[in-house]
Amino acid sequence: MRTRYTTADLSVLTRDEARRFVSEGDGDPQTDIALAWELLYRLDPELYDRLVRAERLHPGVLEWLPDEVERIVEVGAGTGRLTVELIHRAGEVVAVEPAAPMRELLDRKLSRVDRRHGVRVTPGFFDDVPVADDFADLVVACSALTPAQGHGGEAGLAEMERVCRPGGRVVIVWPNHVDWLAAHGYRYASFPGEMFVEFASYEEAAELTEIFYPSAVAEVRRLGQRRVPYELLGINPPRDLAFKVIAE
Ligand SMILES: C[S@@+](CC[C@H](N)C(=O)[O-])C[C@H]1O[C@@H](n2cnc3c(N)ncnc32)[C@H](O)[C@@H]1O
Repeated sequence: MRTRYTTADLSVLTRDEARRFVSEGDGDPQTDIALAWELLYRLDPELYDRLVRAERLHPGVLEWLPDEVERIVEVGAGTGRLTVELIHRAGEVVAVEPAAPMRELLDRKLSRVDRRHGVRVTPGFFDDVPVADDFADLVVACSALTPAQGHGGEAGLAEMERVCRPGGRVVIVWPNHVDWLAAHGYRYASFPGEMFVEFASYEEAAELTEIFYPSAVAEVRRLGQRRVPYELLGINPPRDLAFKVIAE
């Protein structure tokens, strides 16, 4: 990932995206890993989708989420790892995603899953969610919100809470800054058990590890299996969430 893109690729970003993603670091995707990921979402969305198909959420997370509400908003929906799990849980689901190629892939995926449900995939950002105040019963983000301004930050968290109705829940699935969320009144839940990245084949495990987790390649090759423990890749498994119930 660190060498995959160069500053020449930054032209793929819209002005609104560049304002959020480029100004935050030094503007070079070879040294700013968050910026490299933003380029991946736009230049190689299928590759991203192959990775997340292998990184499935813990069933406890999915069971914890409400299974029947009126409206759900998901921000940073990506290619729909969580979205596809939400569409049967609400009459209306709004999936907000800034990267156009990710939205297109998600739209295609949703049209294959089920056309009957009210799912809308729309552009937007954490700090600019295109729905009214108190709109949703559940406002959720999965592996997307961070304290950095361009990827949510204080303004993004406040905006998620703005669109959540009193008594509703804002949920951050697979949070990577738990202390920051706790300082904003979020509680934490984690679900136990062994978890593996479930690549489609050993060949895919080797190929995708080389791209996304290069320091683990030798060990993945030594193991020679399609299932790889998260710990071996140096990442925490997608087994947790942080949540806040909005005051009535
Ligand atoms: C690691 S991906 C997670 C995608 C999806 N939720 C999943 O679990 O696979 C991060 C996502 O957040 C989106 N994102 C990044 N910055 C954002 C922002 N400021 N506002 C909204 N979404 C953002 C990216 O476009 C990308 O789809």
